[in-house]
Amino acid sequence: MTDNEILSALREVRHPGMGDRDIVDLGMVQEIASGDNHVKVVLGFPKHRDPLAEYLIGSTRASLIRHTPQGTEIEVKAVVREEAPAKKKQNVNDLTLEEINNVRHIIGVASGKGGVGKSTVAVNLAVALARLGYRVGLADADVYGPSVPLMTDTEGAVPDAVEGENGNEVILPIEKYGVKWMSIGYFAQAGQALIWRGPMACNALKQMILQVRWGTLDFLLIDMPPGTGDIHISLVNDIPMEGAVIVTTPQAVALADVEKGVDMFRNDKINRKIFGLVENMAWFTPEELPENKYYIFGKEGGKKMAEKYGIPLIGQIPIVQSIRESGDAGEPAALSSRPDGLAFLDLAGKLAEIAG
Ligand SMILES: Nc1ncnc2c1ncn2[C@@H]1O[C@H](COP(=O)(O)OP(=O)(O)O)[C@@H](O)[C@H]1O
Ligand SMILES: [Mg+2]
Repeated sequence: MTDNEILSALREVRHPGMGDRDIVDLGMVQEIASGDNHVKVVLGFPKHRDPLAEYLIGSTRASLIRHTPQGTEIEVKAVVREEAPAKKKQNVNDLTLEEINNVRHIIGVASGKGGVGKSTVAVNLAVALARLGYRVGLADADVYGPSVPLMTDTEGAVPDAVEGENGNEVILPIEKYGVKWMSIGYFAQAGQALIWRGPMACNALKQMILQVRWGTLDFLLIDMPPGTGDIHISLVNDIPMEGAVIVTTPQAVALADVEKGVDMFRNDKINRKIFGLVENMAWFTPEELPENKYYIFGKEGGKKMAEKYGIPLIGQIPIVQSIRESGDAGEPAALSSRPDGLAFLDLAGKLAEIAG
């Protein structure tokens, strides 16, 4: 009798206590052996004695007798399976809020549109808050284009994992510039595009925020993915986000998209606070003419919008070469005492004041 023949005989043995699944499917068959006139099967049972063990041993024997020539010696042994305690399944629905219980403010950094400098603002705001003495973490939730690793020069960092209280795996954030960073980018191969479909992206995101040992924080900023789709709604609903900071540029087209972002947080289903609006690329200042302001994307678009919606304008960040360069070099502008660094410190101070 071949191993496959034995296995198909064993598939006829169903465990009534396990949804009637067969013992092969349940992984209970630990060993099979056969020789001339001899078949041996070892079944593994979990440590706590299975009340149906005797029944299953009998059924296994009966099935083998049916499928083997008369006179075959059948041996069915039962052993207690000593297995390592199974790792808790990382099921998003099982995630608890335990790791973020000691975070005072969870604030999303959002925009209706990509490319307005949302990540730049989020990273620099985090660094600036840390410079002001707050305990800060930032979760880069932009699954489509994680930029925290590059902007903080932590590309290639591999977060450690430890076992949490309920047996779940908990990830340790990467610490740099006084901030705890977490990014989906730490789990992807360098240069590899991340292509996630909706539900998968949502799950990965939630794990990346809820399963991280943030410790005690004053602020946990979340660099949200651009747009206002299902991911956003689900993210805001599943993570106890207090509210959001909205980033825009003065350009009209960006403003129209940002209005969608504002509406998203204010709609009945979400209904969260908007801490303030940040106008990024508010004007251009050339390095050699630091007093000059050129309103290349239009003047005061952010201010007008803030007034229209009754949201405080908490920051105006100029477009300067050093912001882009420091972002690319992984050394956030907010670390510096240049005018652009001070603009981020000012923003951080305003946010802290409003958040309380
Ligand atoms: N105020 C600024 N001055 C100069 N460059 C900026 C500024 N804000 C953003 N950038 C640059 O613009 C690009 C897009 O910014 P990013 O923060 O990645 O946008 P988003 O996260 O909204 O897609 C980056 O190269 C960044 O360095
Ligand atoms: Mg971004």
